[in-house]
Amino acid sequence: MIEFVNVGKTFPDGQQVLNNINLYIERGEFVFLVGSSGAGKSTMIKLILKETEPSAGKIIIDNKDITKYRRRDIPYLRRSIGVVFQDFRLLHEKTVYENIAFAMEVIEAPPKEIRRQVPMVLSMVGLSKKASLYPQQLSGGEQQRVSLARAMVNGPSILIADEPTGNLDPDMSWDIMKILTEINQRGTTILMATHDSEIVNKMKKRVVAIENGTISRDEKRGGYCCET
Ligand SMILES: Nc1ncnc2c1ncn2[C@@H]1O[C@H](COP(=O)(O)OP(=O)(O)OP(=O)(O)O)[C@@H](O)[C@H]1O
Ligand SMILES: [Mg+2]
Repeated sequence: MIEFVNVGKTFPDGQQVLNNINLYIERGEFVFLVGSSGAGKSTMIKLILKETEPSAGKIIIDNKDITKYRRRDIPYLRRSIGVVFQDFRLLHEKTVYENIAFAMEVIEAPPKEIRRQVPMVLSMVGLSKKASLYPQQLSGGEQQRVSLARAMVNGPSILIADEPTGNLDPDMSWDIMKILTEINQRGTTILMATHDSEIVNKMKKRVVAIENGTISRDEKRGGYCCET
């Protein structure tokens, strides 16, 4: 599903962030990516989204080597991967409904499909009643739920979350984790970068830790830190 094969990443300024990363994530897995600030978590996510290119090795998504993708293949890749970020990244001039519908409009989904899918994902995140509000009228937790609905509306097989609870209080964070768990149980593969030790320790999912450019730990039912 997601595979890193001997992946290295050195930025043009000479900083080597990732060195010979080998990682295999199976379909349907839930994986936490942990490591100190600057360890390279977001860089790994950007490599999966093809927002940046590896300096060595290859990245395979759904059995396809994306390092060989051309520019015209990238929209197809982005459609099969939903993404959420710490800062939500919603469009402020659009309503909740419009924010989610927009993700379908850009891939030219038929209007009928949009009218069917948007209410469905809104109900999945428990925001059916807030469809006509603007992002600024929502709490942080609600905004993150909108961004989750948007990430899922095109039915991606992979959901990537880069510190999705980073700006939320513990209660709201657990709301998000509950939704992520449901999404995962319905078959979507999830990769979540996080610093939230409480969440990682309680969820008991696979934990991949990166330190000094390499995978320092990979545990099936791991914890945030080494002694669990
Ligand atoms: N475009 C870039 N050019 C040069 N260096 C970069 C670039 N992007 C990231 N880096 C460097 O790569 C390293 C890893 O950054 P990255 O954002 O992947 O870390 P992270 O693990 O996500 O950290 P955090 O937990 O703080 O989000 C950092 O030292 C950063 O300065
Ligand atoms: Mg990061």
